[in-house]
Amino acid sequence: MRIMSESATDPDATERETAVSLDGVAVRFRSRKRDVTALREVSLDVAMGEFVAIVGPSGCGKSTLLKLVAGLLKPSSGDVRLRGDKVAGPRHDIGYVFQRAALLEWRSARKNILLQAEMRKMPSAQARKRTAELIEMTGLTGFEDALPHELSGGMQQRVALCRALLHEPPVLLMDEPFGALDALTREQLNVEMNRIWRETGTTVLLVTHSIAEAAYLADRVVVMTDRPGTINEVIDIDLPAERDYAATMARPEFARVTNHVRGLLGAGASAD
Ligand SMILES: Nc1ncnc2c1ncn2[C@@H]1O[C@H](COP(=O)(O)OP(=O)(O)O)[C@@H](O)[C@H]1O
Ligand SMILES: [Mg+2]
Repeated sequence: MRIMSESATDPDATERETAVSLDGVAVRFRSRKRDVTALREVSLDVAMGEFVAIVGPSGCGKSTLLKLVAGLLKPSSGDVRLRGDKVAGPRHDIGYVFQRAALLEWRSARKNILLQAEMRKMPSAQARKRTAELIEMTGLTGFEDALPHELSGGMQQRVALCRALLHEPPVLLMDEPFGALDALTREQLNVEMNRIWRETGTTVLLVTHSIAEAAYLADRVVVMTDRPGTINEVIDIDLPAERDYAATMARPEFARVTNHVRGLLGAGASAD
């Protein structure tokens, strides 16, 4: 759990609004060739402002779970709610970041970020102001006018993150966003992601195959089973919200958590 100074004294803390709620969710894909049950009996509540990481074997339904929350897929049974409303179609009050940045090659970093504003018809002054803030927050200053091919992989992912955050979504969905980056860039982005999460206060659902990334970033780590995926265990990460990278990795409770998750996923596992 995130340790927040106010949570101990604030009587409303227990009534924090639920950002995402899955209740007895199953997803079955039917085609002429085969039926696949991707998810079964998944129930999970994520509080506003919480950071939840999801790990599990490849094909266990992690991306499917995010698509349900985004309204890109309907559950075969059960209920999916976003901020209390039943998800009945594609939702606009989310941000989505994928493994590939998917930037438009002919648009500058700034204009790729502003794409979000154009699609949503946001007032342009507000969009430009927020873009400038996000560029600074993600360390892209000086690269605003660069084209995607002039940016490193890490910078391209920063642009994708800015684009996902431009409309200040209450819920950010991230599907293996740092999976294609080298280890060092990934660490840097992990540190930045921790800070950005604290600064924006957004709720995050992060799918990752890195156990260390999950434990470093999250308030809770959801460990899923093999397909048909269900929740095996939910682990509270009892560390302060602000996390120094090296110091966090060196903490005995960090090693305890990562070893425990590794055990749940099976011998020698990385999650994917
Ligand atoms: N649109 C689809 N149609 C049919 N099967 C699908 C579809 N999307 C995912 N699946 C299947 O559902 C299972 C879970 O997929 P996915 O959520 O992508 O897994 P993960 O992200 O955990 O690797 C896989 O077996 C996959 O092949
Ligand atoms: Mg996936």
